[in-house]
Amino acid sequence: MKIIYRFTACLVLGLAACNPSKENSSATIDSKVDSLVNIMTLEEKVGQLTLYTSDYDVTGPHMRKGYLEDLKAGKVGAIFNALGATYTRKLQEIAVKETRLGIPLLFGYDVIHGYKTIFPIPLGETASWDLSMMEKSAQIAAAEASAEGIHWTFAPMVDIARDPRWGRISEGAGEDTYLGMQVAKARVKGFQGDLSSVNNVLACVKHYAAYGAPQAGRDYHTVDMSERMLREVYLPPYKAAIDAGAATVMTSFNEVDGVPASGNNFLLTDVLRKEWGFDGFVVTDYTSIMEMMYHGVAGDTASATALAINAGVDMDMQAGFFQDALPELVKKGIVKEEMINAAVRRILKIKFELGLFEDPYRYSNEQRQKETIMKPEFLEASRDAAKRSIVLLKNTGNTLPLSKEIKKLAIIGPLADNKKELIGPWSAQGVGANCVSVLEGIKSKVSSTTQILFAKGSEINDNVQTGFAEAVKVAKQADAVVLVVGEAAWMSGEASSRTEIDLPGVQQELANEIFKTGKPVIVVLMNGRPLAIPELDAKAGAILETWFLGTQAGNAIADVLFGDYNPSGKLPVTFPRSLGQVPIFYSMKNTGRPMEVDPHNKYTSKYLDESNYPLYPFGYGLSYTTFTYGDISLSKNSFSVNDSITVSCTITNSGSKAGEEVVQLYVHDLVGSVTRPVKELKGFTKIMLQPGESRDIQFVIKDTDLAFYRKNMTFGTEPGAFEVFVGGNSRDTKLVKFELK
Ligand code: NOJ
Repeated sequence: MKIIYRFTACLVLGLAACNPSKENSSATIDSKVDSLVNIMTLEEKVGQLTLYTSDYDVTGPHMRKGYLEDLKAGKVGAIFNALGATYTRKLQEIAVKETRLGIPLLFGYDVIHGYKTIFPIPLGETASWDLSMMEKSAQIAAAEASAEGIHWTFAPMVDIARDPRWGRISEGAGEDTYLGMQVAKARVKGFQGDLSSVNNVLACVKHYAAYGAPQAGRDYHTVDMSERMLREVYLPPYKAAIDAGAATVMTSFNEVDGVPASGNNFLLTDVLRKEWGFDGFVVTDYTSIMEMMYHGVAGDTASATALAINAGVDMDMQAGFFQDALPELVKKGIVKEEMINAAVRRILKIKFELGLFEDPYRYSNEQRQKETIMKPEFLEASRDAAKRSIVLLKNTGNTLPLSKEIKKLAIIGPLADNKKELIGPWSAQGVGANCVSVLEGIKSKVSSTTQILFAKGSEINDNVQTGFAEAVKVAKQADAVVLVVGEAAWMSGEASSRTEIDLPGVQQELANEIFKTGKPVIVVLMNGRPLAIPELDAKAGAILETWFLGTQAGNAIADVLFGDYNPSGKLPVTFPRSLGQVPIFYSMKNTGRPMEVDPHNKYTSKYLDESNYPLYPFGYGLSYTTFTYGDISLSKNSFSVNDSITVSCTITNSGSKAGEEVVQLYVHDLVGSVTRPVKELKGFTKIMLQPGESRDIQFVIKDTDLAFYRKNMTFGTEPGAFEVFVGGNSRDTKLVKFELK
C-alpha cells in the first residue's frame, strides 16, 4: 500500500521529497508544499479546506455515503469524530489510495479533559493551580487519543467566562485572564509538545473570540463589548496559547461587535495574523459559516463563504459551504485563488510537519492503542489530578478529615453511588462505568469495622421526595453523613446554560432534612459551574467542591475526606451568593460610588436585598492546616520604566498538618487615564510547607506587568501609585504601596 502511496507522492513531489530520512526543515517543507499546490486543481485545494464529521451508529463510527464519495473524490481534507486505529487507517487508506494525489487526511476530535482515562473538567483542573499537572494531563490525553489515530484535538478552550449560567464555563480556566493565560500555555504544551512524537496531537485554541461572554449567559448568544475589554480581558489567553505554539485556532459561534467571528476580518486577519503573527490554520466551529446566514450578515451560501474565506478562515467545519461555493467564487473573481492557496499551504504544511506524507498511518497503530489506553500510570495521574483539583470550601470544628475508624458513616445523595456523571461534560471516549464512585472510594478507604450506610435520597433533577424518609433514617443512625449532591454532567458543557445556579431538583430540600438530624454533614458537591449555595454554607459542617473529577473521582474524594491528601485547590472563579449578583468577579471596577466609602448611604453601588460580596471569592480554598502571611516587603518603594520591583512575603504553616498553599499576588493601579480593576492577579506559586515551616516567597513585578490599554488605546504603563497584595485568595490579602515613576 505504501508503495502505491509513495508512487503518487513521488510523482508529485519528486523522489527526494518522499524519502522519510530527509530532514523536515521548514524550508524543505515549504518547497514540498509549493510543489504540491502547483499541481492541485481548484477542487482539490478546496477539498483540503473541508472538514467533515464521521458518524456513529450501533456498530461504531462510519462515514455517511455522500461523504465517502466526497472523500474518494478528494473533496475532504480532514475528518473529525473518526476514532480507533483500525477505522482511521481504513479512512486514511481511501484518501491515500483512492484519490488522485493521495494526500493524507487529518483526524480531529474533541479531547478536552482526557480521552479514555478521564481527568477533571478543565475548570476543576484549573482549581489545582498546578500547571505542570495540567500539562501532564493534556499529555496523557494526547497519548491516548493519538494511539487511536487522532492527530488533532479541538482544545484547549481558553474562553474567559464570568457568567455561571453559561454551561461551557466548565470547559475553560474560569474568570481570570492571567490564570487563563498560564493554563492555556500549559495545555498547549501538554497536547502538542514539539510534535516530533506520535504521542502528541495538534492543539486548537478556541473559541476565537470572546465566546465566553454571551449575553445573559445563554450559549451562542450575542457578544458585545468594548475593544478595550476584548483586548485586555478576553484576547490574551488565545494569544498565550498561540505564543506557546498552538498550531490551529477555532473561530467562535458568536458575533463580536456586530460581526460573526467566522467572517470577522478584524479578529482573523488584523489581530490574529498581522498583530500576533499566527502562521497555523484557522478552522471554523461547527457549521459556523452557514450560521452567518442566521446571524443575518449573509443572504446565501456564496456570500457566507466569501465572507469567511476573505476574513481569514482556512478550513470549513461541517458547513460544506467551501465545497459548494468556493470554486465558483474563484471563477467569478469574487475570491482570489491566492487566498485559497494560502489556506491550502497552511494546512498541508501541518500535514507535512506531522509526518503524514512520510507515513500516513503513523498514528493509527493497533498495537500502540492496546498498550496505551488506560495504562495504570495514567489512572494514577488521573487520581493525582483529581485530588489536587478539590477545593475545601468550608470546614467548621474540624469536621474533616474523617477518621478511617469511624463506626457508622452514612453516604447519601443522588451522586453518591453514581459513576455515569463523574466523567462530566465533553468526556471524549470516557466511560462512566470505568469510574470509581464516591461510595466505592470510601468503602475501600475505611477500616473493616466501619459500617457504611447508603441512601440515594433523591434523583439529581426531579421533584420526587419519597426517598427522603429513608435518607433521614440512615443519617440518624450514623456518626457522620457524607452528602453527595450537585448537577448531572449534561447540565454543563455546550448548549447547557441554566437560569438557576442552585442545586437542581429537590436536593436542597433533601440536604435540609439531613441537616435537621443534627449529625455532622459533609457536603460533596459535583458541578460544572459555580453554584449559589448559601444555605449549604450556613448549615453544613464541611463542603468539598469536587467538580467532575473523572475516572478516579471516588478515590480522590476519599483521599481528601480521610486526610490522605490535604486539600489544596483554590477557586478559579467566584462563587456568588445568588444569581442576581452575576456577573460578579474579583477584578471588577470600583465605580464612582463604592459602597465601602459609606456603607450606610443608600446612594452607593449596592443591592437592596443582597450583599455585594460573593459567597466564596476567586482564589479561595481551605486546607486542613492554616497558613499565616507575614507583612509584605518591597525591594524599593518606587521603580522606573524598564525596571522591576521584588515583592517578598513570608508564609508560615501555622497548623499541625503538612499542606500546600497557592500564594497569590495582585496589583491595583490607583489612578489611570482609564479606570483600572480593583485587583488583578499578576503571579502565583504553589508551595508545600511542613507544620511550623516558613518560606519567604518573592515575586518580581516588571513595569510591563503593569501595562494596559490607555485612554488612547496604546498599550503601555502610566506612572503613579499602585497597591500590591499578597494572600491565599483574592479577598484576604496583605497590602503595601509602591510607585511607578
Ligand atoms: C462545537 C463546539 O463549540 C466546539 O467546541 C467543538 O470543537 C465542535 N463542536 C466539534 O465537536
